[in-house]
Amino acid sequence: MSKGQKLLNWIDDRFPLSSMLKEHVTEYYAPKNFNFWYFFGSLAMLVLVIQIVTGIFLTMNYKPDGTLNGAGIPVAFASVEYIMRDVAGGWIIRYMHSTGASMFFVVVYLHMFRGLIYGSYKQPRELVWVFGCLIFLCLMAEAFMGYLLPWGQMSFWGAQVIVNLFGSIPVIGPDLSVWIRGDFVVSDATLNRFFALHVIAVPLVLLALVVAHLIALHEVGSNNPDGVEIKKLKDEKGIPLDGIPFHPYYTVKDIFGVAVFLIVFSAIVFFLPEMGGYFLEHPNFDQADPLKTPPHIAPVWYFTPFYAILRAIPSFLGTQVWGVIGMGAAVVVIAFLPWLDRSPVKSIRYRGPKFKFMLVLFIIAFIGLGMLGAMPPTAGRTLISQILSFIYFAFFLGMPFYTKNDVGSVPVPTRVTETNGKRQLQFLVLVAVTIIAAYLFGTNV
Ligand code: HEM
Repeated sequence: MSKGQKLLNWIDDRFPLSSMLKEHVTEYYAPKNFNFWYFFGSLAMLVLVIQIVTGIFLTMNYKPDGTLNGAGIPVAFASVEYIMRDVAGGWIIRYMHSTGASMFFVVVYLHMFRGLIYGSYKQPRELVWVFGCLIFLCLMAEAFMGYLLPWGQMSFWGAQVIVNLFGSIPVIGPDLSVWIRGDFVVSDATLNRFFALHVIAVPLVLLALVVAHLIALHEVGSNNPDGVEIKKLKDEKGIPLDGIPFHPYYTVKDIFGVAVFLIVFSAIVFFLPEMGGYFLEHPNFDQADPLKTPPHIAPVWYFTPFYAILRAIPSFLGTQVWGVIGMGAAVVVIAFLPWLDRSPVKSIRYRGPKFKFMLVLFIIAFIGLGMLGAMPPTAGRTLISQILSFIYFAFFLGMPFYTKNDVGSVPVPTRVTETNGKRQLQFLVLVAVTIIAAYLFGTNV
């Protein structure tokens, strides 16, 4: 017996290492027809690791201090400038973290979209989906609190606007917003607590939820682009006929995804870290000034669809709380998808025309709201936001009705259909175009 095998046996007698690896990796059978959309789960894990590692290094030089230094600059803002200019490698760590925040949302939105088109939230994966929605909530809280830390104009005024929203809740609102801030305005006390929550509390919850998400997924097994339950058809050894071991097949596939992702990620970090003011907003290069409100306050791009819904709902009965309720409901309603969708068909490939039509409307509404939420409001824009908000909610709340008898023209197969190379090629072309565009954009050719 080799020394390595002896060591493994020694560990296995004390800790179930081999059996865990078997259960979750080498003998975890995944459907053989995963496609492009199945890259984003592992990529979300990669971005989570990037954020934690770069976050640790940022913490070594960042100072959560809102008071002014001798030069009249807030210490927190100055510490970020110090990281960017004086700390060796500081700039790349910070750009990786700020780019990582936006890329986290890109990846997670695509990951959620995959769930939507393939019906991955349906029975038996309801809990995988609900854990996912809790992750999404945590991610929003994490991003919101992280954004305050550089203590720039947008950090300060963005937090001011969002915390003030809680103030519109009847009876408890005003006290609640003071409790959240720890002060009557956003101040050093707010910065300190947001730092504590951003650096340790929320990431711990996030990690625990990701573990729960994956345990729940491995309990029921992965869905796939055909929506076929591979566990229902097994050979005499109990191995799913349409399954292949996660390792080596999907570890290799995921490594390819990671490589492509890192190329895109590096292109952004090196050439486009501000992404035209979307990843790092221009007013945030000015230090926070409680006496100077920026002319246009908008949240970062990944919050704008929900922000647009907030602004679309007018105040009535003397309170603005309806917009806040609408915005909250827009996030919470996503968790109820497993119970709103009444179609037995999972994958979009075999769904009827009504769902496909509503999905297209939903995509238009979501992107449209995202664009409108980033712009200053006008009467016309508010009207369009109201129409798109209506479509957003109609997609979810109308689902029990329009999915009821919505049958597609192609019957659902009992075995998975093979993937073909064409899709992979389309994907590669898309990536190549993205990289070239990023390069040209970054060098202003
Ligand atoms: C930090 C964020 C997240 C991480 C690290 C993560 C990780 C993963 C991984 C590794 C998988 C398996 C691989 C794959 O199917 O792509 C997965 C599957 C899944 N995730 Fe997530 N996830 C995250 C957020 C979310 C969110 C926000 C949702 C939905 C609201 C979600 C819903 C799902 C569903 C439904 C599946 C099963 C998909 C299927 O089998 O077709 N996840 N997740």
